[in-house]
Parts: sequence; C-alpha cells; structure tokens
Amino acid sequence: MDHFLYKNGELLAENCQVAELARTYGTPLYIYSRATLERHWHAFDRAVANHPHLICYAVKANSNLAVLNVLARLGSGFDIVSGGELSRVIEAGGDPKKVVFSGVGKTVDEMEMALNLGIHCFNVESAAELEQLNLVALRLGKIAPVSLRINPDVDAGTHPYISTGLKENKFGIAMEDAESIFTRAHELPGLQVKGVDCHIGSQLTEIKPFLDAMDRMLALIDRLAELGIIIEHFDVGGGLGVTYDDETPPQPDAYASALLERLGDRKLKLIFEPGRAIAANAGIFVTQVLYLKGNSDKHFALVDGAMNDLIRPSLYSAWQKIIPVVQRQGENLNYDIVGPVCETGDFLGKDRELCLESGDYLAVRSSGAYGFTMSSNYNSRPRSAEVMVDGEQAHLIRKRETLSQLWQGEQLLP
Ligand code: LLP
Repeated sequence: MDHFLYKNGELLAENCQVAELARTYGTPLYIYSRATLERHWHAFDRAVANHPHLICYAVKANSNLAVLNVLARLGSGFDIVSGGELSRVIEAGGDPKKVVFSGVGKTVDEMEMALNLGIHCFNVESAAELEQLNLVALRLGKIAPVSLRINPDVDAGTHPYISTGLKENKFGIAMEDAESIFTRAHELPGLQVKGVDCHIGSQLTEIKPFLDAMDRMLALIDRLAELGIIIEHFDVGGGLGVTYDDETPPQPDAYASALLERLGDRKLKLIFEPGRAIAANAGIFVTQVLYLKGNSDKHFALVDGAMNDLIRPSLYSAWQKIIPVVQRQGENLNYDIVGPVCETGDFLGKDRELCLESGDYLAVRSSGAYGFTMSSNYNSRPRSAEVMVDGEQAHLIRKRETLSQLWQGEQLLP
C-alpha cells in the first residue's frame, strides 16, 4: 500500500495535489511520500520484531538526505557501498554503528573513513580485500569487524543485470573458498569475524531463491562452528521485489517468517538490506507532455522527462506504470512516452493507452528507488528537483540543478 491515490480524478501524494506540486516546483519532478517510506520500513522491522535484527536500508536505492533522515529517525541502519554514501548517512544523522559496508571495490580511503567512524561491519568480497582491510586497520590501531559475502550460486530468477548470486557474477567469495578465507580472516590480527553475508539479486518475486541461499549459508555457518569460528550475524542482503505491474512478491512478513522458520532455534542476529522494497513505491516521477505527434503506425507523447532522469526503462527494459496526474475523459490512443534525449532508447514507457493533450502531467509510478540515484546530466540536462510530502505539507528536498551547475568545476584552457 502506498499513498498515491486519485480523489475526484486528481492524483494525490498523501494530501497534496500532484498537479499543484508540478506547477509549484516544475517538471520533471520526483515526489516521495514520507508516510509510505515509514510504512515500508516498519513492515520490515515488525516482521522480525521477535528476533534480534537490524534493518540496513540500501542507500543506493534513494540517497537523498531527507529520505535517509526520515529512516534514521526510525532507528534504521544503512547498507552503503561507497565513501559518498557513508558521508550522506552521517550528514543525514544516521548512526555509523548501524552501517554495513558492501561492495566489491572498497578503496583504502573508504576503509579508513569507515574504520574511523566505527561502522557495524564490513561485508568483504574477496581474499585480497580482506588482506587490505587488515593492513589498514592495523595501521590505524583498530580492529575491523568483518563479514564475508559468500556467493551461494543460486539463480535469483531476475533480470541478468541485477542478478548477483551466480558463480558467473563478480560478487562475493565462491562457496568452495569460504572456509579457507574465513580461517584466514579469523587469524588476521586487524580483523574480527562477525558474520556471513549474501545478496543474490534484486527484484526477486519468489521466496524460494532466498531460502535456497539461506540453506547453503546456514550449512556453511555450521561448518565454520566446527572450525571454531563462531558467527554472530547473518546478513541476508536485500532484493525483495515490489509490484510494478502485476507481480505478486511476498510481503516482508511472509518473507521474514519463511527465513525465521529456516533459522530454527539458532541465535544468529539477522541483518536485512532492503532498498527497493522500502523506496520504490514511495516515489513517483512527474513529467509534462510537451508535444504529441504521430504517423500512420505510432503515436508519440514527447515529455520533458527522459532517460537521464529515469533510466530503468531504457537500461533494463523495466516496465513502470504511467498514469495521468489529472484524469481526462475522451478517446484513449496507444502512445510511446518518449523523452527529448537523442537516443532511440530514450523512452519511459511503450504502448500505453492514454488520453492526452499537450501540457498534461504524467506520473511514472514506483520511481522512488533507482530513479534519481541513477540520473545523469546526459545531453546537458540539469537533474530534477525532489520533493517529499508529509500529509498536507510538501518540502523541497533537492533543488532543481541550474545550468551553471552543469559546468561547475570545469575549466577553459589558458
Ligand atoms: N545489498 C546489496 C549488496 C546490493 O547490491 C543491493 C542492490 C541491495 C542490498 C539492495 O537491493 P534491493 O533490496 O533494492 O533489491 N538499479 C537496479 C537495481 C540494482 C540493485 C543493486 N544492488 C534497478 O533499478 O532495478
């Protein structure tokens, strides 16, 4: 459930009229709902309320400071993949002790920063990274808490670009190397082994791949115990899917109870890294129709939002619902919704039955995750503004970029 609903033919974001927000802040525009973000976070937190756990929101899904701050106020932890994301978490009032650091290519600077801030855990992805982290920790006179990300070699059944748990993917440590690298981690003086970690992919709509991964990881945890390596937490990663169209992914409570059942009476703390499940349906992307045009085969609605603002349709052929901000009566035509960027792949949606006139606003649903964070300045287009609604209130949480910001930091030759 989210808080983007029609009332008398007008789309509302909580109690704010979307058309009014579009007129006030301009388009293209991202709009997020605080109540929806909070609701989704609580759904996870409640689902594991009776078991030791930490919800570490995956910052990459939506890293606006206001979004992070809303979640930090709920007591959320954060899953980060760069020094930039870590700085955002701190800037937004997040607690570094609740931060887990994922990612295959952490730099020495990023390791230092995270050690100095005292993060909860490093999710280490290779033997080489483990050695590097040990050296950095010793140099700083610290002990790095570590978890090893193991690649359980399960098929997440999702888009190949966002599937991460197969042997052929670059992520994690192969299961057959797990015990030897854990043993090495256990011996290194700058490290303390805390957990095991896996993340098999994103937008999973079935529970089974999660359970397959969990079975393999629990078996590993048992083998490690026999080697005298005691694991305190199991980080199950993120990946729970959302409804974009007619998918029926498990809800967080069903997902969590299936995992807890598999866990049995083990005392392991569970860490979750949800991104999309919290943010996707808490946001819409609003764009205005500039021109309508057509030929004998096709109708096009040229809109002011483009692939640089929302790349998921172009990059993954992702389907996101596109709805009118103000419903109008009349004949529907079949439109491709396309942006001004000079690429054939620049579309937000294809074959959409809509009744449109130029000047109309359209809302692309489910845009709160991997929307703004993946936006760029391609075609020298300033990035969109972002607004967060909270009941009747709307807050501008990121100003639209100005033209001069586009070349800020660039320099002419002398
Ligand atoms: N943890 C790790 C280590 C991850 O790599 C990811 C996402 C997450 C957690 C969060 O996964 P989520 O709960 O959001 O599925 N840009 C793509 C999605 C890329 C996901 C990358 N990793 C998209 O727009 O579909």
